Amino acid sequence: MTKGVNSAPTKASLSPNKVSTKDPSILEKKQSEVSALNSNLKEASTTNAHITVLLDEAVHALAIKPEGVYIDATFGRGGHSKKILEKLGSKGQLIAFDRDLKAIESSKGINDVRFTMVHSHFAGMQAQLAEMGVLRVDGILLDLGISSPQIDEASRGFSFRYDAPLDMRMDQSGGQTAADFLANTTEQILAEVIKNYGEERFAKQIARAVIAERNDGRAITTTGQLAKVVAGAVTRFEPGQNPATRTFQALRIHVNQELEELALIMPQCLALLAPQGRLAVISFHSLEDRIVKQFVRDQANRDDLPANFPVRAAELPQPKLKGVGKAIKPSCQEVKSNPRSRSAVLRVAERTSVA
Ligand SMILES: C[S@@+](CC[C@H](N)C(=O)[O-])C[C@H]1O[C@@H](n2cnc3c(N)ncnc32)[C@H](O)[C@@H]1O
Repeated sequence: MTKGVNSAPTKASLSPNKVSTKDPSILEKKQSEVSALNSNLKEASTTNAHITVLLDEAVHALAIKPEGVYIDATFGRGGHSKKILEKLGSKGQLIAFDRDLKAIESSKGINDVRFTMVHSHFAGMQAQLAEMGVLRVDGILLDLGISSPQIDEASRGFSFRYDAPLDMRMDQSGGQTAADFLANTTEQILAEVIKNYGEERFAKQIARAVIAERNDGRAITTTGQLAKVVAGAVTRFEPGQNPATRTFQALRIHVNQELEELALIMPQCLALLAPQGRLAVISFHSLEDRIVKQFVRDQANRDDLPANFPVRAAELPQPKLKGVGKAIKPSCQEVKSNPRSRSAVLRVAERTSVA
């Protein structure tokens, strides 16, 4: 997946940052909050473990028919997949996707004739399924973002907590690393990426600092270098957050084309789902959630037509999706036992029988 990684994203909204690093006592307090949070996160996961988020809620949302065909588009370490398999009967089928080779490796632990694993980015799902002769499915699950092993394995280069090569590719079998992107991009594109995907108010200052390093012969190739340069450019950041959090998120989203992937998979889900088939999507930040919410809303409502539109309701195109319930968030108990679940939002929709 190398396409388009040098193009700039489009739109952003900025959220207010609250901590001034100019006040040394506040900075000290915030730094200790950051280390407390980081040690919580470390406790929450070990290198190859992933605590599945909203496990029961997401699998319940799929309303599994024992003989149905289900897709886990983001296998990770298979937490959701294993639960889906438990609910399937002997003729049921589960096809899982992931673009991470380590996820593919870990799927080899599932020895089940009803289970198939595909190494692919999920935007390639419909084509992959067509090759397998699968044109309709009964449910699709997307648990977006990265898994704990991806964050916790230093060599993947996703985290500012370890000094490692700045990689950030979910699929290390090809494509451009974050370091490659920083080596080749312009200051303006970098600022847009950091602003739009990190919702970072200091995007311009960070981009300027990164490009200045590069121009001085110190191209940024490690997570440690990047975190240091960002910390020098960000003068205000949120309580409990490392100043580089937003920049790292932005680069990860850009390198992996995460929002483009999501925008491409949503219409494929619509095309693949059989009537009454369920779509369940867990997102972890507002940029993802906005795409999911908007897509479901567009397919579920006819609100886009003017009130005095000169046709009868029955003549209007009928909705292909209906939203199921409200957005679901993890319980306090889940957030306490797995702090990484804290920003998760699950949205569920059902395919109608409209062709
Ligand atoms: C949050 S984890 C999923 C965890 C999984 N539900 C579990 O319980 O173990 C997300 C996974 O999706 C994969 N992923 C993210 N975006 C992807 C995409 N566009 N195509 C394929 N896999 C993707 C990541 O590599 C990662 O393994």
